[in-house]
Amino acid sequence: MKVLMIGDIVGRVGRAVVMEQLKNIKRDYKIDFVVANVENAAGGFGMLPYMAEEFLSAGIDVMTSGNHIFDKRDILDYIKDQPRLLRPANYAQELPGSGLWTGKSSQDIPIAVINLQGRTFMAPNDCPFHAVDKILSNLDKKIRVILVDHHAEATSEKAAMGWYLDGRVSAVVGTHTHVPTADERILTSGTAYITDLGMTGPYDSVIGIDKNTVIEKFLLGFSRKLEIGERDCSLCGVIIDINSQTGQAKSIVRLRVPYD
Ligand SMILES: [Fe+2]
Ligand SMILES: [Fe+2]
Repeated sequence: MKVLMIGDIVGRVGRAVVMEQLKNIKRDYKIDFVVANVENAAGGFGMLPYMAEEFLSAGIDVMTSGNHIFDKRDILDYIKDQPRLLRPANYAQELPGSGLWTGKSSQDIPIAVINLQGRTFMAPNDCPFHAVDKILSNLDKKIRVILVDHHAEATSEKAAMGWYLDGRVSAVVGTHTHVPTADERILTSGTAYITDLGMTGPYDSVIGIDKNTVIEKFLLGFSRKLEIGERDCSLCGVIIDINSQTGQAKSIVRLRVPYD
């Protein structure tokens, strides 16, 4: 089966490229299942319920997230009743939502999606390595296709997670740093890996934020306004071909589709 995993959707232009291109991409590449990280969909910071509904209608099957997921407080209630919107599994258990979705693809293939967050240069959440061990040990053994979004800052932590889960899951993809990396590959025991999917948003920017705003912040220590970029938008992600019987990945290919 073919899975599309899409990197952090940023702001209005990021949402627009998904709405415009996702149906074509699914048709052209014969995609069976789509996962997208949506933590920056609402003006770069967080997510709103109506956006989640739009993404599901546009053909995204499961939405993952990260450190910005609760920036817009409306999502706290919504995520309780929407199992297709995940927050990292290693957050405090008292928080609403889950870091695990299980279900089936349209072809009736059992799938699990796991969302984790790194700890290096990030908030001190529970250990993502122990959290994923716990999830995997409790997972129904009939589920062979397992997709992991590791939302993390440090390349080393992402690479370590890839090797830690090699042979135990189908894919480990990194998100959060918003810059696509060129290290996609199948690890020794059959897990597809990439350090970062890159963002789905404006590349005429500094990781999604208006470039002049960020330069001003570096020059002055603060910026007068916080705006996201608007130009040179692309949808970025990977297409992973997975043997649905074994859960092993056969190939991983980067995808970058510009917004006209
Ligand atoms: Fe992000
Ligand atoms: Fe993030």
